[in-house]
Amino acid sequence: MGQNAPYYVLDKLPPKREKVETINILRQANVATAALAELKGIAMTIPNQAMLINAIVIQEAKGSSEIENIITTQDDLYKALAINKSNISAETKEVVDYRKAIFHGFNITEEQGFLRVNDIISIQQELVNNTAGIRSTPGTVLKNDKTGEIVYTPPQDKQEILDFLSNFIIHYNQNESDLSPLINLAILHYQFESIHPFYDGNGRTGRILNILYLILNKLIDIPILYLSSYIIENKHDYYRLLNQTNKTGEWEEWILFMLKAVESTSLQTIDKINMIRKLLGQTIKKVQEKAPKIYKKELVELLFEQPYSKIEFVVNHLQVERKAASRYLKELERVGVLESQRVGRETLYINSELIEILKG
Ligand SMILES: Nc1ncnc2c1ncn2[C@@H]1O[C@H](COP(=O)(O)OP(=O)(O)O)[C@@H](O)[C@H]1O
Ligand SMILES: [Mg+2]
Repeated sequence: MGQNAPYYVLDKLPPKREKVETINILRQANVATAALAELKGIAMTIPNQAMLINAIVIQEAKGSSEIENIITTQDDLYKALAINKSNISAETKEVVDYRKAIFHGFNITEEQGFLRVNDIISIQQELVNNTAGIRSTPGTVLKNDKTGEIVYTPPQDKQEILDFLSNFIIHYNQNESDLSPLINLAILHYQFESIHPFYDGNGRTGRILNILYLILNKLIDIPILYLSSYIIENKHDYYRLLNQTNKTGEWEEWILFMLKAVESTSLQTIDKINMIRKLLGQTIKKVQEKAPKIYKKELVELLFEQPYSKIEFVVNHLQVERKAASRYLKELERVGVLESQRVGRETLYINSELIEILKG
């Protein structure tokens, strides 16, 4: 790997063990593994898993898209999810598609227990909403946003890209013996981004693969690690270290970065879950005390599954008439659990306190 060469050679996996298992890396891997294990345990204690998945996945979708400068507001996003509006902004639609792509990948991992290259292609397709697939026309290079300077040239030839992907997927599905899966996660993410198999969506697809990898390795049961929040906060280092690894073939700093991301976002997510749990308890109590006639556990849980709710959701979730559903939501607004907002013809009922927690 020449220091000043314009074209950086990409090696196949696996890298040399001594490069990816330095003392610093092993120490940080332990800390990150412990934090993630704690998150897995705490997530299991939340009775309604759908509630948790919905809440956190939407944050991840928003965050990962934001890394690519696709900025959408929380408010727009939830509205778009609640009202099937056709005139949502392009940005919001991209984030909604990202969320779809995570769930698509999650279903595949649940059904198969591993991923194929074709699954990666279908996840990316779900994400970008086109069928271009693997790059077949040369010309894709990675440039520095500000200076326009070419920082990295990924493999150009379609067959070469496919070879790299076959090598990637073997190591994705099976860890080298005794290598910490979190260290492998960092290696895999670097490798995927460096193969850069698609015209677009490589960053977001790669970050979905990260979450799915943790699930496949049973480090977490459901897609709730919000890794992108750390990457946003440290975006400059994320790009810098990907680039540095390309240029030098040195892994340590990059792997440490990813391990810290796992540690930090695990701890943040634990806090979030604890806050959600507390709010759920408080909300149940409030409804039981102030509106005992309409109290149902499923009703309150719905407000956490769908922070932006509406009559139709209540009808479907509780199997009640529209009139009853409407009365429930109005009661919940009266006792201060929800706030209503009119959007077009629809009235949305917002669990504002939950939204505040999710925003962080
Ligand atoms: N020097 C680099 N080497 C390898 N990958 C990089 C480098 N710089 C950035 N990347 C990756 O490329 C992604 C951007 O690629 P792109 O296909 O536009 O994905 P998306 O559309 O999801 O943003 C970044 O999110 C990052 O993961
Ligand atoms: Mg892009």
